[in-house]
Amino acid sequence: MADILLEVRDLTKEFAVGRKRVRALNGVSLGLEEGEILAVVGESGSGKTTLANLVLGIEMPTYGDILYRGTPLKTPRPLHMRRRLQYVQQNPWTTLNPRRTVFQSVALPLAVHKLTPPRLWRERVAELLHLVGLGPEFLDRYPHALSGGQRQRVAIARALAAQPEMVILDEPTSALDVSVQARVLGLLLEIQARFSLSYLFISHDLAVVRNFARRILVLYRGQVMETGPTEVVFRNPVHPYTRLLLASVPVVSEEEAALRPSWPWDAQDRLGPGEGCPFSSRCPWAQELCWRERPSLVPIQKSHLVACHFAELFVEEVSHHG
Ligand SMILES: Nc1ncnc2c1ncn2[C@@H]1O[C@H](COP(=O)(O)OP(=O)(O)OP(=O)(O)O)[C@@H](O)[C@H]1O
Ligand SMILES: [Mg+2]
Repeated sequence: MADILLEVRDLTKEFAVGRKRVRALNGVSLGLEEGEILAVVGESGSGKTTLANLVLGIEMPTYGDILYRGTPLKTPRPLHMRRRLQYVQQNPWTTLNPRRTVFQSVALPLAVHKLTPPRLWRERVAELLHLVGLGPEFLDRYPHALSGGQRQRVAIARALAAQPEMVILDEPTSALDVSVQARVLGLLLEIQARFSLSYLFISHDLAVVRNFARRILVLYRGQVMETGPTEVVFRNPVHPYTRLLLASVPVVSEEEAALRPSWPWDAQDRLGPGEGCPFSSRCPWAQELCWRERPSLVPIQKSHLVACHFAELFVEEVSHHG
């Protein structure tokens, strides 16, 4: 088994909003192996970007630990960590400094981390642009003269300039047209394989994740609902929330449609979640226990974990059907 590169334990983040406290992340634990792609999936507001910001040291956790190769990360992150752990952000329109040329943006990590002597910067940046499918004619362009897809390619080149071990990709293609999206995802996969990078891939789009990540982790209201190998979770989703998500993924074939879990209930919020399961207010199978007590994440099978009091019941149901 490969080494664990990043480990997050019981990570919790609260924000003060007026006089209230919002728990954006609530006891999240995960491990990312070297050379692995782990997808974090969840709807808007589930805490995906908060997780990224905590790992990057942009925000401080309220509680919990973040370890890199077994060592707790210091805040602010030391320079060598800022090199190893790169970030490609959600929005291609705000990610690049509009006053810097492509060359200046991509050369910045070379300068900051002293990776290349200044006389070779142009050559190195041209090489990095080539890696992401952009020609040397882009060197002296400004972001306003680039399409969304080209901007994301430049952001990827800038991340690669640092020679990272791990990249956090926060919805890297969600702002792009579908055809552009597919090409950028293909590029990201190529690059991952070529440099054996580890990706923490954040997405709300299960259809994208399915072909991209080896493992997935489903977040709901800041908590992990289910995690496991992508194929296993898609074939045997156990948590009612995961089933709800999968029920709304467009299917490609009739075989797939037949396998798809059905969603028997018109989901609506009945009660706000108290201390219990965050999904209890929308869950058709919720019992009193679910409102009262938060289920912990427990293994159903090796490396397939589910946070549901009635997980065992759903596992049986799944195995009857398949
Ligand atoms: N700086 C902040 N101050 C107050 N609340 C915040 C802050 N950042 C995030 N939140 C809240 O925390 C929750 C999680 O937000 P987050 O941005 O992590 O979600 P997300 O999963 O990335 O959503 P999206 O898919 O829309 O990007 C939300 O309820 C959000 O309003
Ligand atoms: Mg986000």
